[in-house]
Amino acid sequence: MTRTVYVNGQYLPEHEATVSIFDRGFLMSDGVYEVTSVLDGKLIDFEGHCVRLARSLSELEMAAPCSNETLLEIHRELVRLNDITDGMIYLQVTRGNPGDRDFVFPAEDTPPTLVLFTQSKPGLADSPVAKVGWKVISVPDVRWGRRDIKTTQLLYPSMAKMMAKKAGADDAWLVEDGMVTEGTSNNAYIVKGKRIITRALSSDILHGITRAAVLRFAAEAQFEVEERNFTIAEAQDADEAFITSATAFVMPVVEIDGAALGTGKPGSVTARMRELYLDEMRKAAI
Ligand code: PDD
Repeated sequence: MTRTVYVNGQYLPEHEATVSIFDRGFLMSDGVYEVTSVLDGKLIDFEGHCVRLARSLSELEMAAPCSNETLLEIHRELVRLNDITDGMIYLQVTRGNPGDRDFVFPAEDTPPTLVLFTQSKPGLADSPVAKVGWKVISVPDVRWGRRDIKTTQLLYPSMAKMMAKKAGADDAWLVEDGMVTEGTSNNAYIVKGKRIITRALSSDILHGITRAAVLRFAAEAQFEVEERNFTIAEAQDADEAFITSATAFVMPVVEIDGAALGTGKPGSVTARMRELYLDEMRKAAI
């Protein structure tokens, strides 16, 4: 089955969908994105993604491409057309095509570019790796200073992922001034007893939609939540660790820079948080 994608008002077979070479997203990474999971054909935390998209756009003084109602219709239509049971929907908005390359932002009436496509991942929530956990390495965080904006400037996260792969690990945790910021494409946590520790929100990290939900459920489940910085050494000494993202949900981390955490197996707090998150989010999916 050929995938149907969405580009600027049209649903097209993927090989017919095109964007100009002058698009600011292509030339300048002048774009923002969201990734929303689909479970059982329904969207997980769609509203959360809409709120963050609006914030990213506004921080960059970029026009919204359409209303949230229209975005919801497009997401649902793509799920239907591509017969997605489990997977994700990628959405990207760029500052559009000014017709040439220029560092100056284009005229305000330049229409933004809006692209969406689906990725089918059958059994996404039952990923076998969630039972084993990830190994991570640490690498310096050399990204720009506005990581709270979900831009498409993903070269360094992609390089860090490759460093991890080459080291036989699953992901990299980024470290700045001796403190863990986040993973290449996820938020990072450690667990000590019944305490879940994660970096506080600031422009140093992306404000994860999954993070917000997980911290809410953690508090409801009587876990203690501490939002503060931690080092790699503290993480290696923790009982458990995990990451969160819209596509990995809650994923155990069992090894950091070659040091096994606790028993070297996914921990019980992590397992509980994964279960809670998936149960609650499936119930609220639209
Ligand atoms: N990444 N931190 C970074 C740097 C991210 O890129 C992401 C998401 C997160 C987690 O955010 P959320 O819980 O809202 O997915 C944290 C997406 C999944 C991606 O780039 O594919």
